[in-house]
Amino acid sequence: MSTPSLLILPGDGIGPEVMAEVIRIIDWYGDKRGLKFDVTTDLVGGAAYDKHGMPLADETMAKAQAVDAVLLGAVGGPKYDVLDFSVKPERGLLRLRKEMDLFANLRPAQCFDALADFSSLKKDVVAGLDIMIVRELTSGVYFGEPRGIFTEGNERVGINTQRYTESEIRRVAIAAFELAMKRNKKLTSMEKANVMESGILWRDVVNEVAADYPEVEVQHMYADNGAMQLVRAPKQFDVIVTDNLFGDILSDCAAMLTGSLGMLPSASLGAPMENGRPKAMYEPVHGSAPDIAGQGKANPIACILSFAMALRYSFDEGEEATRLEKAIEKVLSDGVRTGDLLGEEGVTPVSTSGMGDAILAALDASL
Ligand code: NAD
Ligand code: IPM
Ligand code: MN
Repeated sequence: MSTPSLLILPGDGIGPEVMAEVIRIIDWYGDKRGLKFDVTTDLVGGAAYDKHGMPLADETMAKAQAVDAVLLGAVGGPKYDVLDFSVKPERGLLRLRKEMDLFANLRPAQCFDALADFSSLKKDVVAGLDIMIVRELTSGVYFGEPRGIFTEGNERVGINTQRYTESEIRRVAIAAFELAMKRNKKLTSMEKANVMESGILWRDVVNEVAADYPEVEVQHMYADNGAMQLVRAPKQFDVIVTDNLFGDILSDCAAMLTGSLGMLPSASLGAPMENGRPKAMYEPVHGSAPDIAGQGKANPIACILSFAMALRYSFDEGEEATRLEKAIEKVLSDGVRTGDLLGEEGVTPVSTSGMGDAILAALDASL
């Protein structure tokens, strides 16, 4: 088989800082495990705007369509707040998701034992937590038409439209049921069918798909109650499937169950390509963190765990993904912590690259 190709888009703020650590890990796999990748690096977000006047150049979009997987750091930052909406950094990320048709965004929230004490919730609420949020990523209110800021009479009106076709709901529901079958066969669908027609359709279609998965226990929950249940008793969930906006909010919420937003990876998957691999982009859930950018403080684990997801979902290297996850677990249980995870006694504070050093050492020790 030819060498798998990776497009790396570090982006803005802490994006390049955390991606630098991922690149060291990719190099480690090449040197120590014979797992070579054909890596290309390019610009996205504000960095692309600075060079091209738009947050994603057409050539970069074409490269993303052609590779086996994309790894993205983060986009955005206060410097770009003044830009016209159409060229804001976030539009580059949204274009990648939309044009690659990455409709299923897998956002696992796992609480590593070593961090159970650190969560803002009580230890027994989060210890052993392992849930998977499946967020619809290419439709809903993020993309629905009409949208815009218009003038009505003598005032402005801002409009966004929540719109879902049944096929859009069906394909993400199928992705979630397939995951549930590989996990604990338990799925919770979250919408607001009590106030939104799109929520009624969502619930109907999820029930239709459920008929093909009789072994999966299905539960429907209003998303507001879902948010509350996520912090009250998160271990009641296994797979959660939800729309684009609810999924965005609920996954940030789930991040705090794991201790930090700096811990949450994600995989954005589309339909299989000709080679059988899904179209895919891997990205941490967090943003560009302007408050800590450029200071070597960022936690690179979310981005490194995103690469582990790439090993598992794009490259059929589940064992190597587990090796990397176990190395991270070891480093955390040794008390190595970036600034977002400090506060306990007996921990060793490290910089972003210090965390990379520790993970590489744990990988070496795993051989
Ligand atoms: P953010 O995720 O960047 O930061 C929220 C908080 O979490 C900050 O206090 C930050 O310091 C902390 N944090 C985030 N990642 C961290 C890490 N790896 N290590 C340690 N601490 C971390 O969210 P925000 O401040 O609302 O947004 C900042 C910018 O990022 C905005 O322009 C936003 O649009 C963008 N954004 C981009 C993405 C993405 O590229 N996928 C995701 C979310 C936000
Ligand atoms: C995320 C981010 C993005 C989103 C932004 C930056 C477009 O918050 O990936 O969670 O809202 O989807
Ligand atoms: Mn978000």
